[in-house]
Amino acid sequence: MTSLNKILEKTYEKHSLTKSEIIELLNSDGKELYKYSDRVRQENVGDGVHLRGLIEFSNICKCSCKYCGLRSPNNRADRYRLEPDDIIKYAQNGVELGYKTVVLQSGEDNYYDTDKLCHIISEIKKNDIAITLSIGERTREEYQAFKDAGADRYLLRIETTDKELYKFLHPHMDFNNRVRCLKDIKDIGYEVGTGCLVGLPNQTIDSLADDILFFKSLGADMVGIGPFIPHPETPLKGELNPKNFDMALKVMAITRLILPDINIPATTAMETINPMGRIIALQSGANVVMPNILDSEYKVKYEIYPNKICLNEHSGKCRNCIEGKINSIGRYVSSTKGFHGEK
Ligand code: 5AD
Ligand code: FES
Repeated sequence: MTSLNKILEKTYEKHSLTKSEIIELLNSDGKELYKYSDRVRQENVGDGVHLRGLIEFSNICKCSCKYCGLRSPNNRADRYRLEPDDIIKYAQNGVELGYKTVVLQSGEDNYYDTDKLCHIISEIKKNDIAITLSIGERTREEYQAFKDAGADRYLLRIETTDKELYKFLHPHMDFNNRVRCLKDIKDIGYEVGTGCLVGLPNQTIDSLADDILFFKSLGADMVGIGPFIPHPETPLKGELNPKNFDMALKVMAITRLILPDINIPATTAMETINPMGRIIALQSGANVVMPNILDSEYKVKYEIYPNKICLNEHSGKCRNCIEGKINSIGRYVSSTKGFHGEK
């Protein structure tokens, strides 16, 4: 047995890896790794794929993250903000399309204060549907209020655990506060989702291994991993590195090995840089897809990175398209809400 196979066999039994083992897997070509991560996915969460309807309700953001096209200094971004009643209507469309979860995502936009958000959440919650929030850093009191209003899950990527790189990417932010947010979210009783970007300038394999260990130590219920895609209106503009896809896929697959029953999306960013990206991800450990349910005019404007997929597709068409793709690889769309551990 090769040393790689030994590591994979051990993880398959124990669901644990040391940092040096993770590094060895990250330096491999991934072929053996994906066989194991797909098997671990199959045995622990089954063949169902959970669909989450994504509502990107505002692209206004007070942050200036160096990689993101929605950063506040980008005055070429065409900004929009949906009113609460419209957000509620889109969620209703999601219910009609058969989604069992809606994800409310936005830039860090203080227009949506606690009262507005609690109103939106409690109205949407009148349907039999799970609600995931992805609206950035807030106070513990706010997280508690959203939970009390009916929110079930919260997504907040750590982005990178390399503190120096974190400071460079987010000069206005504080790594410790981000960790504080994640801990509060977990403590309050949300299912917590985190994740990282892969392929950032000066990001090392060593720090990606730390990212994976961080997901485990946090006790993440969901982990979203995406390749970094340079946006021309940001300080990190430049050539896309196609290797980011393979590295992101490996980070995702290793995460599946050590967190065997969590929810892992095949991310939109993966499909943006590889036309088969989501299918490949679903066959390498992922079990979730998050199609957008907004109309084209908003999808086009929510330009975190360029060349996003499905910009001109109607939400009903995306829903059918993705189901077709899922069925074509012998998988099926799950009919449950898809909480952690629920098939
Ligand atoms: N390329 C890929 N992903 C990005 N994100 C932000 N900017 C980019 C980019 N240029 C990701 C971040 C954020 C999520 C909503 O989008 O990880 O958490
Ligand atoms: Fe949108 Fe295929 S998922 S068109």
